[in-house]
Amino acid sequence: MPVIVPPHQPSQQTLTSDVRQQFSAGSAMVPESGEGVTRTCRRRSQLRVPGWRPGRSGSASVRVGCCGRSFPTRGAPVRLVTRNCTIRTPAGRSATVNQHTRQGPLTTTEKRLPKTSGGMSNRLVDPTANVLLGTASPLAVSPSNRRFRAAMVGLGKQGREDHLPALAASPSVDLVAVCDADDKAVALVESEYHVPGYTNVVDLLDGEDLDFVVVAVPHHAGRDVVLAAAAHGVHVLKEKPLATSLDEAQEITEACQAAGIELMVTLQRRFNPVYTTFPQLYDQIGEPFLFEASYTMAVDPSSGWRGSNRLAGGGCIIDMGYHIIDTLLWYFGMPDHVLAHTAAVARPELDYDAEDTAVLHLSYDSGLFGTVLLSRCIAPKTEVIRAIGTRGSVVLERGRIRRLDNDGTAVEALARENAWPSAAAAQLDHFRRVLMDQRPNVSGAEAHLAHAAVVTAAYASAASGQMVDPKELIA
Ligand SMILES: NC(=O)c1ccc[n+]([C@@H]2O[C@H](COP(=O)([O-])OP(=O)(O)OC[C@H]3O[C@@H](n4cnc5c(N)ncnc54)[C@H](O)[C@@H]3O)[C@@H](O)[C@H]2O)c1
Repeated sequence: MPVIVPPHQPSQQTLTSDVRQQFSAGSAMVPESGEGVTRTCRRRSQLRVPGWRPGRSGSASVRVGCCGRSFPTRGAPVRLVTRNCTIRTPAGRSATVNQHTRQGPLTTTEKRLPKTSGGMSNRLVDPTANVLLGTASPLAVSPSNRRFRAAMVGLGKQGREDHLPALAASPSVDLVAVCDADDKAVALVESEYHVPGYTNVVDLLDGEDLDFVVVAVPHHAGRDVVLAAAAHGVHVLKEKPLATSLDEAQEITEACQAAGIELMVTLQRRFNPVYTTFPQLYDQIGEPFLFEASYTMAVDPSSGWRGSNRLAGGGCIIDMGYHIIDTLLWYFGMPDHVLAHTAAVARPELDYDAEDTAVLHLSYDSGLFGTVLLSRCIAPKTEVIRAIGTRGSVVLERGRIRRLDNDGTAVEALARENAWPSAAAAQLDHFRRVLMDQRPNVSGAEAHLAHAAVVTAAYASAASGQMVDPKELIA
């Protein structure tokens, strides 16, 4: 049920029981005067929004402003890091709750929000949502000189090759520190980027005033880093996957909600026009009944933490396969059944137990079904997603997408070169805009419970030989 903010509410008034009733009559409940709102920015307080459900249109969300920062909530109860907070309604109105004095009452201020951002925070947080195309409201374009302070945690391959260059080149994000458990990696990057380095994430969070951290650590280290950031009220841009298991994904999601921080999982395909074009072409192939996806490469399956199920949470499914699972969830939604076979036998001379190769069969009650081939041990590197319908097919390969008719003749095509190098910068900029409420966070922790469920279903199916319904895992 939507929150109803009366159109002629006084611009500044003491939060009387009448006003409180107007909010609680909808779905939000403003705390009693003075109750629960702390006086220092770093302390947390509680504001309950009992009726709010993520993704339900017409429901309310809460944003919290503090020292110029704004934190969207993800359901109730929410923890605020603030002196003041804003209840925002789908109609584009908001009511701000302030604590002006140490003992003083809370007050509300109603104001109309700019149209471009009014509906943003209520958008469906759905893995099938199109980050660029599938949104109901126009994209917000309000300029902002706001600069963000960020630190890079994890200075391995992904951190050094993708995220650090994007951070260094960003016109609106300042790289203020770096962190890695390996002091040699820290020393190297410290001298290259001329920022202080830390070997412990808690020391980093205690020592620096940060808006967010970019996290690219091995899978087993991700949980502790994210929880530490959440405990410090620092937002997180996290390399995939969200977590090594469904339980861990749920724990991280709850921690982010409780802390009122944004977490966005980085998935570069969401920022590549070849991939964002897929839904448009898919709509033109009639009734889709089949898809096939494959993502293969030849790398050392025993390399570092990646070769260990215990450290990585699995092999090619949770690692490289996470990109394909995200894309299929985005395009087709949550499957109703998952059947999987996995193997860790391609390189018998090497020592590893994480699967190097997997085949997943996904099916939907709509009748759509398809397969996903994933492998770390099949050269050359290829990536294909093909969907077939009654009036043609869509074929997506690295760098190009085509729509074919039933005879296999290309009807239309789009090619994009050099898309990958720009993805880290695009994701960084998108996250900055999420923090400013200009863009939806379509890759938030809650949305990634679906990914974790599909990954978990695949491993459960491979172990049992049975089909598994991933929806039941998060019901
Ligand atoms: N999006 C992509 O295409 C893509 C590609 C590669 C890797 N990744 C992801 O990026 C992440 C990192 O992968 P990588 O290939 O860079 O791994 P890596 O092993 O090369 O680097 C990880 C770094 O994290 C450091 N580290 C370990 N524990 C830490 C901790 N507690 N605190 C701080 N630093 C710590 C390690 O010392 C290492 O330097 C993984 O989640 C991986 O799945 C994504």
